[in-house]
Amino acid sequence: MPISYNESARIFKLRAKDTDYILKVAPGEYLAHVYFGKKVPDEDLTYLLRLDENPFTPETNNRDKACYMDTLPFEYPCFGLGDYREPAFKILDEEGMSACDLRYKSYRIYKGKPKLKGLPATFETEESGCETLEITMEDKHAGLEAALIYTAFDRLDVITRSVIVRNIGEKPCTLTRVYSACVDFDTNEFDMITLNGSWARERAVERCRLHHGKQSVDSMRGESSHQNNPFVALCEHKADEESGEVYGFNFVYSGNFIAQAEVTQHKKTRFLMGINDMDFSWRLESGEEFTAPEAVMVHSDAGLGKMSRTFHDLYRNNLIRGEYKDKRRPILINNWEATYFNFNTEKLIDIAKEASKLGIEMLVMDDGWFGHRDSDNSSLGDWFVYEKKISGGLKSLVDEVNKLGMKFGIWFEPEMISPDSELYKAHPEWAIQVAGRELTLCREQYVLDYSRQDVRDYVFSMMKNILDSANIEYIKWDMNRQLTEVGSNALPANRQRELWHRYVLGVYELMDRVTSAYPHILLENCSGGGARFDPGMLYYSPQIWCSDDTDAVERLKIQYGTSMCYPCSAMGAHVSDCPNHTVGRTTPFATRGHVAMVGTFGYELDVTKIPQQDRDAIPGQIEEFNKYNKLVRTGDQYRIGNMFEDNTWDSWMFVAKDKSEALFEFIQVLGRPNERSRRIKLKGLDPDRYYFEESQPEIKLSGAALMNCGINIGGMWGDYQSKIMHFIAAE
Ligand code: GLA
Repeated sequence: MPISYNESARIFKLRAKDTDYILKVAPGEYLAHVYFGKKVPDEDLTYLLRLDENPFTPETNNRDKACYMDTLPFEYPCFGLGDYREPAFKILDEEGMSACDLRYKSYRIYKGKPKLKGLPATFETEESGCETLEITMEDKHAGLEAALIYTAFDRLDVITRSVIVRNIGEKPCTLTRVYSACVDFDTNEFDMITLNGSWARERAVERCRLHHGKQSVDSMRGESSHQNNPFVALCEHKADEESGEVYGFNFVYSGNFIAQAEVTQHKKTRFLMGINDMDFSWRLESGEEFTAPEAVMVHSDAGLGKMSRTFHDLYRNNLIRGEYKDKRRPILINNWEATYFNFNTEKLIDIAKEASKLGIEMLVMDDGWFGHRDSDNSSLGDWFVYEKKISGGLKSLVDEVNKLGMKFGIWFEPEMISPDSELYKAHPEWAIQVAGRELTLCREQYVLDYSRQDVRDYVFSMMKNILDSANIEYIKWDMNRQLTEVGSNALPANRQRELWHRYVLGVYELMDRVTSAYPHILLENCSGGGARFDPGMLYYSPQIWCSDDTDAVERLKIQYGTSMCYPCSAMGAHVSDCPNHTVGRTTPFATRGHVAMVGTFGYELDVTKIPQQDRDAIPGQIEEFNKYNKLVRTGDQYRIGNMFEDNTWDSWMFVAKDKSEALFEFIQVLGRPNERSRRIKLKGLDPDRYYFEESQPEIKLSGAALMNCGINIGGMWGDYQSKIMHFIAAE
């Protein structure tokens, strides 16, 4: 029974595998947070609500009610009644008042997990069931109800949260903040881990000790962003990959977000996560409701590695959908870094001919095939074929590629509009804009107003024309700029600030429409590389282009950071040509393959032009990818090296769930004198079983020895060298 309610103590207890999350209806009908952590027996833990010797009931000390409000650990704190920590919920009512007061009203416990209207969310499967607790809070004065929705997964240390606010009163009310989760921790002894970066260096891991006051990561760009990812881990200072308590939070949303930790006067921590309320408001008419996206909370009692593996299992099984969910993805070749905008049918066919001989399975035609697009300064919105480049039309190109035994994929940037486009000439009002203000260009483009049904319908019909015209089996959905001058020609003044969120809802609606109408198409998301690598996008696409930086060494950091909460099997990763187009570095072709192999794998180069020895290496690389892909897709990932601490080497493993085999990879980033031999301790094996490395079946060592004593990695000469080893359990 994952969720129970003790009626006399008025305590709710959610059990997610080995994790407990406990809340209590405190006197005064306030909903208080009691505990989140490793599971504990059923006993009275309400002493945790007490601060020193102070009473925790306002009834017994109403004189100091404000004090009480400022210290009680709240499940969903409101603004304006004496809790001076950051609130999760704020309103502006018709009288211009902002105070609000949500109190406990009722609860419901039920099997399964509800869908969130119009929003991505995790779901239960036959293998991993879940139970949901819905607590209804009410502010009688404001005429509002808030359903706090908690789901506990029975086989994963995961609890998810979301909130639905309903206007049950007579008057309209404006919501000015509706966060999805708040956890009031009993301590401030945490490090905060975040994933930060920029274009081409996304999700670098940063770890800082919490300090008094507020520290946060956020996005105000209209997308989850290159700069900060909607992920935060709070962990004990001593926590590392294998040990220590860790709380991971991830927001299932692709727009503006905030994740904030606040250390209070009493050395406690309030953690909040939700839609960023900067420039946000949402008007609720009587009878209307607003749904806040889902926040995922993971608890680990064994370090960051276990936290990551829990996220990976959750996302692989209970978030990613579609035909490719559990399938090896086709090995593709993308023409972006091969040709940029300079291609035509003949060039693409040349690439496909050579690629098909080498075993590559799909050609992806990237940006530049539509309108009159010869550079990034035109045609977004004109989703019809550029006949000058694609002479003979799309169908004949795709048929030709299919004849070579390859699938065909295509690039779209459906949310955008170029000023130089037929669409803009016909519908300048469809761009997001503030009427009368000059619009800010970014990559020579504007953003379409996806809050509008007519805009989404039109884009869908154009995409449909293309998708119906030829045998297209993959879409790369790109999004290459952030939002500015956020205003809509279709919304009234008192709903303009809803546009940020309505935009994201519109994107989700169209993605849902495309994936439902074309379920066999593999969708890969992308946003100037990895600016929308978030769980919201994973709900629609089983893979996301990880970064525009394809350099194998830079990718070590990017893929490491991304793996904090996202599975490697969802990371778009390609072998590209050298010197690398982003950093100018030359790395061995084999190393590029070994780094891309732990992602979705593919090529992004002109296979007709690369050195013969690289071309010759491709069939072997493909064989290796095929051999290990199942292990990478379904196994447990163990990080061994950490380039953020020592950038001279990296290493990781993927271990089969039944511990029967493991893939070990080692990268010598820099060759160093007297460091040519290293002892590396393996991870994740069964200590009691014996393993041999595939190339040396005569040598068997116990999992215990391999993990506690380690193996010698030697004989590597030079920079950027890689080695892979395959350990198999002896029967
Ligand atoms: C973005 C993507 C690239 C490529 C270009 C095309 O930058 O990340 O992979 O598709 O757009 O313009």
